[in-house]
Amino acid sequence: MNKTALIAGATTGIGKASALQLARDGFDLVLAGRNETKGKELVDEIEALGGRADFIRTDMTVEDDVIALVAHTVDTFGKIDYYLGNQGVIYPPKLFHDTTTDDVDMVLSTNVKGTFFGMKHVIKQMLTQPQGNITIMASSSGIRPETGFGVYSASKKAVLGLVHDAALEYAANNIRINAIAPGGIKTPLTDATIKSAIDRNFVQPRPTIPLLNGGDLGEPQDISAMVSHLASDASKYMTGSVISIDGGITL
Ligand SMILES: NC(=O)c1ccc[n+]([C@@H]2O[C@H](COP(=O)([O-])OP(=O)(O)OC[C@H]3O[C@@H](n4cnc5c(N)ncnc54)[C@H](O)[C@@H]3O)[C@@H](O)[C@H]2O)c1
Repeated sequence: MNKTALIAGATTGIGKASALQLARDGFDLVLAGRNETKGKELVDEIEALGGRADFIRTDMTVEDDVIALVAHTVDTFGKIDYYLGNQGVIYPPKLFHDTTTDDVDMVLSTNVKGTFFGMKHVIKQMLTQPQGNITIMASSSGIRPETGFGVYSASKKAVLGLVHDAALEYAANNIRINAIAPGGIKTPLTDATIKSAIDRNFVQPRPTIPLLNGGDLGEPQDISAMVSHLASDASKYMTGSVISIDGGITL
């Protein structure tokens, strides 16, 4: 019987690269996201690789959507071996005093409440199984201070709190929970952020990425390789870990 993975925020960037990697690793997949067209295209791509996948339109900020997503995964595949809580949003870079209530609501709702809903309902299911395995996508922004993203950084720090607390609470139930903290990965989110900084003349005093890497940012595959490791039994002794993949930007 194949293992089953559920991915939230699966249709673009890091989520998409992770879905394709886990399909290659032999997982049956349930892909959750808001864009039906992109979701169906990704299902086709995975089926062309010989994999099995379903797309379920899900807004992770809506608890009933998350409950229905988990129920669909269990109805279809009988269990959830691995959950990747990857959905995330950011706003155009701006200083603290320019950050709006809408920015705060959007970021906390998706990054914190959505992460909590995903973990809560997946953990409820995993408690009925012999074991469970969860990875949450944090950020280098939740580890070091950065100019222009105060509330986003706070949301990613909050995510680490959820991961650490839950890792401890459910370790005795054989559910392990880890976080990846990417930094500077080429995805639609990064493209949009860089473009809005340029358009709005927002000068962000950023440290350069220490690792030479051909002068380039990271690729989604730099993250999906770690997702593959965390989803496998090769990482069976890891829980509560935060793994930085950021070219050394948090050093
Ligand atoms: N790209 C980077 O450099 C970087 C750095 C640090 C952290 N991250 C984190 O990695 C994760 C993936 O980001 P990415 O860079 O691949 O960008 P992305 O924009 O390609 O991916 C984010 C995905 O989340 C989905 N999403 C957003 N809100 C949602 C909601 N309410 N319900 C369901 N899906 C929702 C989006 O539609 C999108 O598919 C995010 O959590 C992001 O904060 C990215």
